[in-house]
Amino acid sequence: MTQEILVLGATGKTGRRVVDALKAAGATVRAASRSSAVRFDWSDESTWQPALSGTTAAYVIAPHDPAAAAPFVAQAEASGVRLVLLSGKALDEIPNDVFAGMHAAEAAVRASGLPWTILRANNFAQNFSEELWQQGVRAGRLALPVDDTPEPFVDVQDIAEVAALVLTSEDHDGQTYNLTGPAAITFDTAVAKISSALGRTVELVKLTPDEYRETLLSEGLSENDATELNGMYEAMRKGLLATPTDDVSRLLGREATDFDTYVAGALDAWR
Ligand SMILES: NC(=O)c1ccc[n+]([C@@H]2O[C@H](COP(=O)([O-])OP(=O)(O)OC[C@H]3O[C@@H](n4cnc5c(N)ncnc54)[C@H](OP(=O)(O)O)[C@@H]3O)[C@@H](O)[C@H]2O)c1
Repeated sequence: MTQEILVLGATGKTGRRVVDALKAAGATVRAASRSSAVRFDWSDESTWQPALSGTTAAYVIAPHDPAAAAPFVAQAEASGVRLVLLSGKALDEIPNDVFAGMHAAEAAVRASGLPWTILRANNFAQNFSEELWQQGVRAGRLALPVDDTPEPFVDVQDIAEVAALVLTSEDHDGQTYNLTGPAAITFDTAVAKISSALGRTVELVKLTPDEYRETLLSEGLSENDATELNGMYEAMRKGLLATPTDDVSRLLGREATDFDTYVAGALDAWR
């Protein structure tokens, strides 16, 4: 029987790279999301079982709504699908109302009778080029509630390769891996590296949490989302995300991708 692997969030930053890494390893992949050929919507439970059915393992990014996590894991359990869950570094030390969906997903996965692996990732390097911070970098002014606490930003390609490895092997069942870049750098250093590679000035403006909250609300984010995002930066400032690990290099047998290499490959995102 073909072993088919379900990838949720298959159009996203990690998911699309997990799809590619699995295909490169010769696996049969079922790519799913709201806009994929295989439709999967966290807010429409009728899409879950058809996506899971007949697969042997699944790459899961947590739902935004914590209430969706346990019912989904129960369906995966009924189908006997191994789960590889993307989570966040130091989640145990982060309050439950920050990343509530991720807390609920980890709890449900750990409590299940399924084989599982949890990938706790640092902030992605690609947040600068494919998400949250891209617009600020392009505009030459990135304004965030950060300080001088360093962070080992992790390249999502490394996450994807680790995910593909653990999805296709039972050797990692029951493990929680902390995926980081090879070295922690400050936001000043990260922005200076991007600035230098681009050949134009990108300013880093350090906001207070209140200033950042006001900015987010003025951009139309909800109070809840503003609180959640601020909670993430608070975890960063406390140093909860500051320590690199060697999990990526141990698992992949090569060094984790460093920030300079990431920047060199991402320049088009800021032009
Ligand atoms: N950014 C970071 O630094 C960081 C660090 C650690 C952990 N994480 C975690 O990583 C996860 C995000 O992963 P990512 O960055 O790879 O994804 P992403 O780039 O944010 O893309 C989201 C993916 O989820 C799909 N999606 C969105 N809403 C959905 C819904 N209601 N139902 C089903 N699918 C939905 C999207 O596709 P469609 O629009 O087609 O549905 C897309 O494929 C989050 O749980 C985040 O907390 C992020």
